[in-house]
Amino acid sequence: MARMRVGFVGVGDISGIYLKNFHGMFANDIEVVGVCDLLREKAARAAAKYHIPKIYRDMHELFADPQVDIVLNLTRPAEHYDVTKAALEAGKPVYTEKPLAATFAQGKELLELAQARGLMLCGAPDTFLGAGVQGCRRLLEADVIGKPVGAAAHMICHGHETWHPDPEFYYQAPGGGPMLDMGPYYVTALTQFFGPVQSVVGMARATYPKRWITSQPLSGTEIDVTVPTYQAALLRFRSGAIATLVTTFDVYSMPGVNHIELYGERGNMIVPDPNEFGGEIKIKIGERNSAGAKQNWGHGKWIPIDSPYDSFSANSRGVGLYDMAQAMRTGRAPRASAALQTLHVLEVLEAVARSEGSAIEITSPFEAQATLPFSAGRGEPPTWETVQQRKKLCREIGR
Ligand SMILES: NC(=O)c1ccc[n+]([C@@H]2O[C@H](COP(=O)([O-])OP(=O)(O)OC[C@H]3O[C@@H](n4cnc5c(N)ncnc54)[C@H](O)[C@@H]3O)[C@@H](O)[C@H]2O)c1
Repeated sequence: MARMRVGFVGVGDISGIYLKNFHGMFANDIEVVGVCDLLREKAARAAAKYHIPKIYRDMHELFADPQVDIVLNLTRPAEHYDVTKAALEAGKPVYTEKPLAATFAQGKELLELAQARGLMLCGAPDTFLGAGVQGCRRLLEADVIGKPVGAAAHMICHGHETWHPDPEFYYQAPGGGPMLDMGPYYVTALTQFFGPVQSVVGMARATYPKRWITSQPLSGTEIDVTVPTYQAALLRFRSGAIATLVTTFDVYSMPGVNHIELYGERGNMIVPDPNEFGGEIKIKIGERNSAGAKQNWGHGKWIPIDSPYDSFSANSRGVGLYDMAQAMRTGRAPRASAALQTLHVLEVLEAVARSEGSAIEITSPFEAQATLPFSAGRGEPPTWETVQQRKKLCREIGR
């Protein structure tokens, strides 16, 4: 079958892993036909490294190319709207980096435009398709920790100015801040587990009015901070589960703080970093005696569990676009769909920023897509009973 042909708008920091994977793990299905960037030398570097046939003068030339089947928008958040809008107006399906747009209103407009033109619109993150989150979702569906009660999620770091070559956009409106930057990974993962969000409460502060870049090539450059950089949220899901989420660029990362902890009626689960594809899943369950009474509740160790998936555990960025390409071929819904998921996540993120302590209802639709099929080699996920057996075994062998 012919490969799906992709054109890149923006060839900055994140483009490297997309280019690598489209020329590696997804090379049988995806072909990069051309690239463009405001800074032509960036596009030229990528084209030379991967033998990409076309460097477009600008995005409009790319959109006019009949050889481009899907536009990949890898520009900065404040630029997503203009680029995606122009691509859709030119009749191209789009996969965009996160967030879908800098504001919910812009995201909604883009989705309406895509739907009016009958074009697919999808967006990052796609880490939720990795072995980590997919595996946790399967374990949850297999009732290993029982009915979900809630979750606690933390994205704690001291900002991106120590490593990103041009980090100003993370600190400026529109589109900046830790909730719009990292929240998509966390809220997307939580919706995979709990379904749609019903309402949101948020509080935020900006701890440092200025930041200094220490990465190259802009080391020493001052950044004015115009967005909150410590954002805390309470999310109530339609299913009844409640999650807390903190995202911040103001606090040193702390060893031992879990990215996402899921709490169920009969046990808890540690979800690997939702900004990664794989990682260790751990479960801790309570025990019951033969009469069903709880025993040992609160004691016992975390049990490491292999993800039931053995695919997409390494850095698989691009898998969302790969899934979109399959969906375009077969006519099914794509998993990273703006209509079913990404716009909903954007509405939640913006509500956190707007809330200032008041509850905001979330209205946009969300529809969970099926988990990925199991690849060969791993079987069905463990059940509560098999985890109990494993727990006994771990105790016997002193793990
Ligand atoms: N850097 C990361 O580690 C990372 C990780 C995950 C997601 N992302 C997301 O990826 C996106 C890009 O981030 P980045 O870090 O690569 O930023 P970047 O600043 O390194 O790259 C963005 C590039 O887009 C180009 N660009 C902007 N408008 C353009 C236009 N109209 N036509 C052509 N080129 C245009 C810029 O010149 C720049 O080279 C953001 O949405 C970000 O949130 C980044």
